[in-house]
Amino acid sequence: MIQIEKLRKVYRARGREVTAVDGVDLTVREGEVFGVLGRSGAGKSTLLRCVNLLERPDEGRVRVDGRDLLELSGGELRRARQRIGMIHQHFGLLSSRTVAGNVAFPLEVMGVPRAERAARVAELLELVGLTEHADAYPAQISGGQKQRVGIARALAGRPKVLLSDEATSALDPETTASILELLRDLNRRLGLTILLITHEMDVVKRICDSAAVMRQGRVVESGPVRELLLRPGSELARGLFPLPEPVLRGDTTVVDVTFEGESADRPFVSTLARTYSIDVNILGGAVEDIGGTRIGRLRIELPGPPDVNAAQLAHLREAGLTVEVHGVAGDAAGAGDTATEEEAPVS
Ligand SMILES: Nc1ncnc2c1ncn2[C@@H]1O[C@H](COP(=O)(O)OP(=O)(O)OP(=O)(O)O)[C@@H](O)[C@H]1O
Ligand SMILES: [Mg+2]
Repeated sequence: MIQIEKLRKVYRARGREVTAVDGVDLTVREGEVFGVLGRSGAGKSTLLRCVNLLERPDEGRVRVDGRDLLELSGGELRRARQRIGMIHQHFGLLSSRTVAGNVAFPLEVMGVPRAERAARVAELLELVGLTEHADAYPAQISGGQKQRVGIARALAGRPKVLLSDEATSALDPETTASILELLRDLNRRLGLTILLITHEMDVVKRICDSAAVMRQGRVVESGPVRELLLRPGSELARGLFPLPEPVLRGDTTVVDVTFEGESADRPFVSTLARTYSIDVNILGGAVEDIGGTRIGRLRIELPGPPDVNAAQLAHLREAGLTVEVHGVAGDAAGAGDTATEEEAPVS
């Protein structure tokens, strides 16, 4: 549904150049909720704004629903944009207009006749659960309700794609949950493809089918959320299971074991301990529900340095678990990094 290829955007201000997006490739499939996660300044908003050409990229391609936006003429681009809704952190409502008036605004711009407009506004307010607040002014409703107005307004042109720039960042956790629930519901009921950016792991966990992690203008990893979490060295997994950097003593092996679904139900720790007659120390861990699948990470400590635990590590891998060993040779990256040795197990 959205194809981004080799996208690059450089800002030039007062003789200084900032490469906000630095060669990004990304594919968002039709009907999925895709999350872009990254810290402040990573280039998330710039990337999103390039998808509807609010920002013109310096290089690369953006295709939405099969159309190359950079090749469209003014009128064509305006029409294409109506099929791409956008919502923002600070809602951007018109304070002098009622809830219904705000939702009607884009329809007026599109030249929808009055009678049809009224029916469409009613339909949109129903969709986001605001029918009873149609005549309220933005100052009279809560943040969550304001974002519902923002969503209704974004859906006015019956878009196939919704872009969301930190839509829940200004909301409390409970309201955030209800807005995410609404987005998920719209995604399913309308087949709406959603590309959202966020710096909150929780947003990715709750509603994203796929995700990308951005750092300094680049995508460092992307794919289905489940796959990313089970990929050795995954930043997304590190964000979801925030275990502190372990203290490595040299005479033990610290291992992060990531498991899902079935393998989560097998007692791999006690099996390991019994098979090799060793004491296994549990240092920490967490389990999350990702799209109905349980995915968890457990940090364990085995007696002896990594080289004497080769059989034990192979045993865990053979059980279908993702295994990451802390501090093995070759791990020069230091803090927060684990050796990714799926292809080349320690011998
Ligand atoms: N209009 C602009 N002019 C100059 N530099 C800009 C402009 N917009 C963004 N930048 C710079 O581009 C980089 C990426 O900014 P961007 O807003 O895309 O990041 P972000 O990931 O959305 O951050 P945040 O989470 O804080 O919203 C930053 O270094 C920022 O300072
Ligand atoms: Mg931003």
